[in-house]
Amino acid sequence: MSGEKGRITEITDLPGVGPSTAQKLVEAGFASVEAIAVATPQEIATATGISLPAAAKIVKAAREALDIRFKTAKELKEERLRVRKITTGSKNLDELLGGGVETNTITEFYGEYGTGKTQICHQLSVNVQLPEDKGGLNAKAVYIDTEGTFRWERIEQMAKGVGLDPDAAMEGIYWIRAVNSHHQMAIVDELFDLVKKDNIKLVIVDSLTSHFRAEFPGRENLAMRQQLLNKHLHQLMRLAEIHSIAVVVTNQVMARPDVFYGDPTQAVGGHVVAHAPGVRVYLKKSRGNRRIARVVDAPHLPEGETVFAITEWGIRDPE
Ligand code: GTP
Ligand code: MG
Repeated sequence: MSGEKGRITEITDLPGVGPSTAQKLVEAGFASVEAIAVATPQEIATATGISLPAAAKIVKAAREALDIRFKTAKELKEERLRVRKITTGSKNLDELLGGGVETNTITEFYGEYGTGKTQICHQLSVNVQLPEDKGGLNAKAVYIDTEGTFRWERIEQMAKGVGLDPDAAMEGIYWIRAVNSHHQMAIVDELFDLVKKDNIKLVIVDSLTSHFRAEFPGRENLAMRQQLLNKHLHQLMRLAEIHSIAVVVTNQVMARPDVFYGDPTQAVGGHVVAHAPGVRVYLKKSRGNRRIARVVDAPHLPEGETVFAITEWGIRDPE
């Protein structure tokens, strides 16, 4: 069925997609106009058995339906002005990020174990629900948990810490456990549909890389791992852009003392993650509950470091 202003919203509205083609597309994981628009005709043809010219026609129609085309610089400026921010709970960290975690892009928090990546994800899932004058977007969050480290108890505590009703805050987070990398990507495909129906403005993937690392270990699997991670990041980027959502991912990396003063990172997924668009924040342990954050390779943000703390009530500035 067509949505507002006669826009195409269902795959069956696309020219060339009859019931049997629609079924093939859905079975192959291309269940939404968005999923089709970000795929290549080759991918669709291979996965569904539809001919390449037919697949190309469907992809073209999906891209037109979503207004994926040349934009003027003025339009880019207007898009930039529409970007909104979610507070992290720490003024220091917000300032480092130019006001908070941005919508329409991917923000990656990476660092060693225990540096606060998961705590920041919990905090953002709560804070996105705050009214705009308190640094939120008055919206809900999706939490894709790959390691089983999500704790509702922590959400309850953090909600109290920002003056939200804990039950309401827990209702505002959709949690799902991704059991493997394939499942993780399938979940994101489905999100294109879900975020349209509900007021979701934040999607968390904690951790982005753990399944990929476990399933494709070692150098011999590096190419495959990077190819899949690349596809996954591309999906997430489109999700962020098409629906004006903040996407936050985490990535555990090993500390490398030998390169401490250079780029101290050996990110899992290495260059794939490094080259995806968005904001990358490196986290490092400091004294006690303090953590150091540094923005890496963000052309629109000034370089620098800051300190935040993980407290009983969540992410805050240090005392
Ligand atoms: P990995 O997922 O293992 O890579 O680590 P991570 O970066 O996700 O670390 P995480 O966010 O889980 O941070 C763990 C740290 O947060 C712990 O070392 C604690 O210091 C702190 N922390 C976690 N839960 C609480 C809590 O309920 N209260 C307080 N005060 N601190 C907590
Ligand atoms: Mg974690």
